Formats: sequence, structure tokens, C-alpha cells
Amino acid sequence: MRLSDTFLEDLRSRVDIESVISPYVNLRRRGKNLVGLCPFHNEKTPSFTVYPETESFYCFGCGAGGDIVTFMRRIENLDYLEAVKMLAERAGMSLPEDGFDDSMAKQRTKVLEANRAAAKFFHAQLFSERGREALDYFLNRGLKVETIRHFGLGYAPNDWQELKNHLNKMGFDDVLLESANLLRRSDKNGRVRYYDNFRNRIMFPIIDLRGNVIAFGGRVMDDSKPKYINTSDTLVYKKSNGVFALNFAKNGNDGKLIVAEGYMDVIALHQAGFTNAIACLGTALTKEQANLLSRYAKEVLISYDSDEAGQKATERAIGIFSSTGLEVRVLRLSGGKDPDEIIKKYGPQRFRDIIEGAANDTEYRILRARDGLDLSSDDGKLKFLSHVADILAELSSPIEVDIYASRLSRELDVDKTAVMTQVKYRRDNYVRRRKAEREREQQKKLMEGSLSKNTERTSNLRAAKAEETIIASLMRNPDFYPKIKNEIAVDDFITALNKRIFTVVLERVSQGNSAEPFFLSSAFTPDEMDEVTRLFRQSSQMRNTVEECLDCIKILKMEKNRPGDIKASELSNDDFAKLFRQNTDKG
Ligand code: UTP
Ligand code: MN
Repeated sequence: MRLSDTFLEDLRSRVDIESVISPYVNLRRRGKNLVGLCPFHNEKTPSFTVYPETESFYCFGCGAGGDIVTFMRRIENLDYLEAVKMLAERAGMSLPEDGFDDSMAKQRTKVLEANRAAAKFFHAQLFSERGREALDYFLNRGLKVETIRHFGLGYAPNDWQELKNHLNKMGFDDVLLESANLLRRSDKNGRVRYYDNFRNRIMFPIIDLRGNVIAFGGRVMDDSKPKYINTSDTLVYKKSNGVFALNFAKNGNDGKLIVAEGYMDVIALHQAGFTNAIACLGTALTKEQANLLSRYAKEVLISYDSDEAGQKATERAIGIFSSTGLEVRVLRLSGGKDPDEIIKKYGPQRFRDIIEGAANDTEYRILRARDGLDLSSDDGKLKFLSHVADILAELSSPIEVDIYASRLSRELDVDKTAVMTQVKYRRDNYVRRRKAEREREQQKKLMEGSLSKNTERTSNLRAAKAEETIIASLMRNPDFYPKIKNEIAVDDFITALNKRIFTVVLERVSQGNSAEPFFLSSAFTPDEMDEVTRLFRQSSQMRNTVEECLDCIKILKMEKNRPGDIKASELSNDDFAKLFRQNTDKG
């Protein structure tokens, strides 16, 4: 199904790209365009550019690019139609009724329904006879029944079919349940069997901001491995975006969120009255998660486990959170390994004190620099100062540097100007290094003809460039179509991605339609749209003549017929054997 061009055209004219992007990115005007820190990768200097003229965006740092729909798909993890729907609603437009295919949206709704039914099932099991051990487990860990109900915690029985049977009876089929990751499939000797993914585990439902159950975490009740099983990526869940308990914490948090590592920490914190606690799920904190949090708070209090792994993760998180503009403070947990343990051992007041005394990110890094050094020895002092100078050199505010330098000189009994000299020396180095880095990156991008998501590009550079010019000139000049249509066919293309882009562009221009990126985006994933956008942008620097296009067609055909360097991976076994024989004959 396809939305009409008239509808899309109307949508594009009613929605301006600045208003779409600015809730997610702090944009500043630069000439005709706007720039800001890219929401799709980590950066300190803005390379994310919005072009109101063409209603498009492009990041010179990571190559992400596209139109308003692509932006919404990416940032909110929506499919094409959902993104269009969201933008249309905002513009006060209703979607055309006829033939509106929302099969993907229907599928998502079904997955959500299945998840909800599963959550109810797990929760009911917890309070049944067979859930006794699980309930005791929660109670022994200090949870009140009220808390268990609030979070909708549950128990997955020790059985391979219980959930499957229950949900089958409700009308959910196995294929859907597998796509929800509630069931798994085994395929032994051609015999397909489905079985419950979560067995004999206590269950934590993950609930999104609209109150949908989007995923589960399931923990063992002993020391067996794996400790947790989590829902993998599904139609309704992307692990790298997952945040636990934000549905509760988003309101009334005074602009502050406590970020803990684990489910149990968050639950214990809420029970103790810290209802602004959340956990970022998945192995490592992502920029997407940080972005999401920055929409509900100004400041994060990192409260990871006090072990080495937790402290490493803290250092990393500081960088990611700061780059989204969040203020960062770090809690020093002492007397226990994580928030859960500290509250259980000493009560909520202790945790309140820890928050009170929380260090900001610089103080935290200075504290860390001290670890393992003997500050009463000259050697220890020297090492410490040198490390601290590194930290202070990265600060942008001279006043801040001054404050820390004064504090340190007093504490270590060294001359303040000596500290400042060290910092200045490093700062000059730091600035020089960053400048050189940026220049190197720019240079590299220029050499590579800017970032490309076409993985076959480097091994077929000449062909790929010709392909790109053909596509770009057709996108920009649909009227070239009659003049080149007999010269080129889809099969002349060598790299798979360009071939696909060309197919879509050709289909549109051959029917007299516009082939600007905006009209192509239903046919591509957001990642592919990066490349489509890059190609389109490139056309502004081309001659844009039919001759240029025909020249490239010639080059492409030459490349296609060039013998000799066929990649081994593309050859069949027979071909390979033949080639091998030829070579040995020669030798
Ligand atoms: P922890 O091992 O610290 O678990 O992992 P925890 O939640 O604090 O559990 P308790 O206190 O021992 O009961 C922290 C978080 O990392 C994720 C989970 O989200 C967990 O809450 N994790 C950990 C996994 O996803 N899988 C694992 O195997 C372990
Ligand atoms: Mn833990």
C-alpha cells in the first residue's frame, strides 16, 4: 500500500522540519541552516545539520540523514506508517482511509496484547500455590506485597508449555508469540516445536510511557546462569532504548532521575520513597536512552554498583549523559554494593545523605584519580596532580578550574600557580589535539567522498561512484529519464544497495513522479535512507547534465565487464574450480 504523493506533499508543506527536530536536539542557526549535537551518535562539537530549504537533515559525524519521516522513525523507533501518522496528527491532517495498510501496526498491537496477557499470567502465578517459592523470594528480599503489585512482578512456572497453552487458548498463535519472544522455537530434524522462553524465573515486566508491557526480564532464584533472561528486540521493543520504571519516574521527579543498574535496585528505591529511580536496560548505556531521559529530567544521579565494573560503567555514562546536555552527579555508595543493599542495611535516610553529598562529575573523577595512591608520599602526590591536571584541562569554564585548583593546592599543600601552570600546559595540548583530530576526520571524510553506508563501495569504488552519479542526477532531474532509459538497466548496477535505490528511483521517475528522498522513504529503512540522502545531497555539487549521466553509464558498463577481479565469495564452486584451473594452467 502506498500513500499518495498529494497527501505526502501536503504533509511536507504543513510540517516544518525545525519543529519536528527541535524537541530532541538543541538547534542553533548557522546561515540558512541549523546545527546541533547529533542525537544518533556521541559528539562534543555539533555536526548534525538541518536544511529547512530541502526539509532534510544530515550528520557529518555519523552519516545519519533523511527527511522528517525518517527522523521520527529513527528517534522514536517507529515504522514508516506510524511515523507518518504521528506527524499527520500533529499537523491536524487525517490519514486517507482508502487502502490504508496498517498491517504492521496491527501486528504490533497484537504483540502488546500478548505481552499484557503474559504479564497477567505471570502475576497470577506468583500468588498461586506453585508461586510460593517465588513470592517468598521477593518477600525475603524485603519487598512488600504492595510493591510487588505496583510493579506487576510475577513468576514464570517451571514448565515448557504453561504460558504457551494459556495464550493459545486466548487466541494468540505460536508464530506471533515467538515474534514477541515469549516462546522459542526448536527445529530438530524438521520437527518444529514451540516452548516457553521464561521458565522458573521471577518476572519483571517492562512498561513504556503509554502503559504498554513491551518486554520482560526474568531472574533465576538461585545462583544458576544466566542470571537474567531478557526479551530480545521485537516489533515493540528495542533493547538499546529500554528504560525500566520510567513510566513511574517520569512524573513528579523534580527534574532529577536516579539511574541504577538493576531491576531490584530500582524497585527497592521506589519502595523506600525514591520514586524517581530508573534503570537503563541492556549491556551498555546508549545515546538513545540518554536522550529519552533528557526529555524528562535536567539532571541524572548515577548510582551504579560500587564494584569496579560499576565504576567503569559510571565513567562511560558521565560522557554519554553530558553529551546530551544532562547535568550529572555521581553517588558514592559506601557500606554496600548497590542501592538495594544500602537501603536494606541502613534505611532510606542513609541514601538521602548519599544524594545530599553527591559529587558532580568533575569531583567524582578527581576522587577516582586518588584511588590507590598514597598522598603522603611525593610520588603519590605527583601522580595525583598530574592526573587531576588532565581532568581539569578538559573543563571549559576557567572559574571552575580556578576553584578546583585552589581546593587542591590547599589540600595537598602545593603552590596554586604550579597547579594552574600544569593545567594550562595540558589545556593547550588538549585543544591542539582536538583540533588536529577534527581536521584529520574532515580530511578522511573528504578522501572517502564523505561517509557511505554502502559496504560494497570501497571494493568497487569506481563503479559505485558512477552508480551514485547516475542515481543522484535522476533524483534531481527526473526529466533525464527519457534520454537515458535505453542506455541503462537495473542489472547494470554492481553494488546491491545502489541497485535497490536505482530500482525505486526508476519506478518513480518512469511514472513521472518526483524522486526526492522524502518520497522514497517508505521503501527504505532509516539506515538506507542515510545513503539515499547522501546521494541526493551530492547532486548539488554535480554538473547535472545528461552528458555527465551518460558518461557514468559508460564507466559503469566498463566496470561491469572488467574481467579479472571477481570476488571469490561471489563465485559458485564450479566457477571457482574453473578459475583455479586457468590459473594453474598459466603457471
Ligand atoms: P546485577 O547482576 O547487578 O543484577 O545486574 P541485580 O538486578 O542487581 O540483581 P540482584 O540484586 O543480584 O538480584 C544489573 C542489571 O543488569 C542486567 C539486568 O538488567 C540487571 O538488573 N543483567 C544482569 C542482565 O540483563 N543479564 C544478566 O545476566 C545480568
Ligand atoms: Mn546489582
